[in-house]
Amino acid sequence: MDRQPKRPFRSREWFAAPGRSDMAALYLERFMNYGLTPAELMSGRPIIGIAQSGSDLSPCNRIHLDLARRVREGIRDAGGIPMEFPLHPIFENCRRPTAALDRNLAYLGLVEILNGYPIDAVVLTTGCDKTTPAQVMAASTVDIPAIVLSGGPMLDGWHEGELVGSGTVIWRSRRKLAAGEIDEAEFLARATDSAPSAGHCNTMGTASTMNAVAEVLGLSLPGCAAIPAPYRERGQMAYETGRRAVEIAYEDLRPSQILTEAAFRNAIAAVTAIGGSSNAQPHIVAMARHAGIEVTAQDWMQAYELPLLVDMQPAGRFLGEHFHRAGGVPAVLCELLAAGVIDGDALTITGQSLADNLTGRQSRNREVIRAFDTPLMERAGFLVLRGNLFDFAIMKTSVIGEDFRNRYLSRPGAENIFEGRAIVFDGSDDYHHRINDPALGIDADCVLVIRGAGVLGWPGSAEVVNMQPPDGLIQQGIMSLPTLGDGRQSGTSDSPSILNASPESAAGGGLSWLQTGDMIRVDLNTGRCDALVDEAEIARRKQHIPSPPIPPSNTPWEELYREKTSQLADGGVLEMAIKYRGTSHKTPRH
Ligand code: FES
Ligand code: MG
Repeated sequence: MDRQPKRPFRSREWFAAPGRSDMAALYLERFMNYGLTPAELMSGRPIIGIAQSGSDLSPCNRIHLDLARRVREGIRDAGGIPMEFPLHPIFENCRRPTAALDRNLAYLGLVEILNGYPIDAVVLTTGCDKTTPAQVMAASTVDIPAIVLSGGPMLDGWHEGELVGSGTVIWRSRRKLAAGEIDEAEFLARATDSAPSAGHCNTMGTASTMNAVAEVLGLSLPGCAAIPAPYRERGQMAYETGRRAVEIAYEDLRPSQILTEAAFRNAIAAVTAIGGSSNAQPHIVAMARHAGIEVTAQDWMQAYELPLLVDMQPAGRFLGEHFHRAGGVPAVLCELLAAGVIDGDALTITGQSLADNLTGRQSRNREVIRAFDTPLMERAGFLVLRGNLFDFAIMKTSVIGEDFRNRYLSRPGAENIFEGRAIVFDGSDDYHHRINDPALGIDADCVLVIRGAGVLGWPGSAEVVNMQPPDGLIQQGIMSLPTLGDGRQSGTSDSPSILNASPESAAGGGLSWLQTGDMIRVDLNTGRCDALVDEAEIARRKQHIPSPPIPPSNTPWEELYREKTSQLADGGVLEMAIKYRGTSHKTPRH
């Protein structure tokens, strides 16, 4: 092989360290036991890791068990040696008390693997929500050449001639169930019909959002994010990704060269245009912080001004197949680039700029991916809020529906301002026990508040803020109330909640002293959200009223997580991990 790597492969330090043939023999021999030969491992070819996120416990990513075959073939054809290893499983819907605990755990595990084994570049197999940020964060910390391969969404779900999308169908059917329009058998049928094939959520939930974000950041080959899992193009993308992984090992193209300030600004802009998940906020902040980039409230507000271009559930109508056929992420980026709101010079994993990658990739269906100047909604990003209840929270404005806008945001002379009586719940059990209690007297002028749902309180931060109104209100046609909380909500939710409030109640944030009956005032014009409680009364409550209860840690990781993790505003990262960057520049000792 005459190709020379730009920098010597780190695997050489295991298998060809000068004067240490004794150690090399020890490292080499056990790889023989599944058929590798000494000649292969000593040939000087790069070893390409495949971080395998699929398993029976991670059904959203299970397609990667099949795709890995094509990744390996690509790696082999390009002259590399593949080595596949497991990532700690993450399954959003099933993991109790929340998969949020797994993001940082999978991150930690992957850092140790990439740092401690003879790997020269890695293919990150992404899909379900947190599998993307977890792996990108680790790639940043270690800073070895890394390329993202998305698993892709499921095929579109259909039920009785109607599109039914992952998660979104659950929230919508729950309301129908409460209204008495459907029974439980119909509820189950709608849910199962939304999941017709292998793949991750087919809505623009957190999974599709974060895979799109990885592509915008420049970490995957163009067009990768949106290809549905079962399409033939997915296998072809796996092959090309494997091939490219070998090239980036030779070129020494590292995350630190790609994950720049421009790349993150581009990603934040794209989240607005696609109607992306509210979970993009903590995940983008986390990835940026691990890359040494600061994302500010100002960055989100700049993106708030941008329009919604993609007509996909939960903000719109369609699902993943439509999005892919319309051109996927590159088509959205074409619009943003032409409008001058993203930086086309950002370097990507192709070795080319973002703009170079977009040639000829305009939208093929203007109904699904709109032109920048004929959007589905203007000013459709995350609105950042602050006030005496928290320093930071977001509201996803692309899911503010007609009904909500008319009821709460259209009072003459007070547009975009509403006031409501707080109904405060301590965690989701309390909400479920009491939401239908007539004694609470919940009416259309209430704001439902949940606390104890943040990184410390839950622990991990739970997707519980999109609380449904009491059944009685739903039966009267009031489908949503304003909600507010220190937890998150599912990216598939169509509820315009005030989310991710930081600091959370369990960290002594304002929600800790809020009481049922307090008036809350939200002004979307100024970005303020305040409880109308005077300073003296707040001080009195802080002194005399015990903090709301939070459950004790139930596992060692929960305890460690609570000790080390920052608030959602700061990405919910392991704060002590941020200072480690570029660990692969120093190979661990023998
Ligand atoms: Fe895994 Fe949505 S639950 S992708
Ligand atoms: Mg989720």
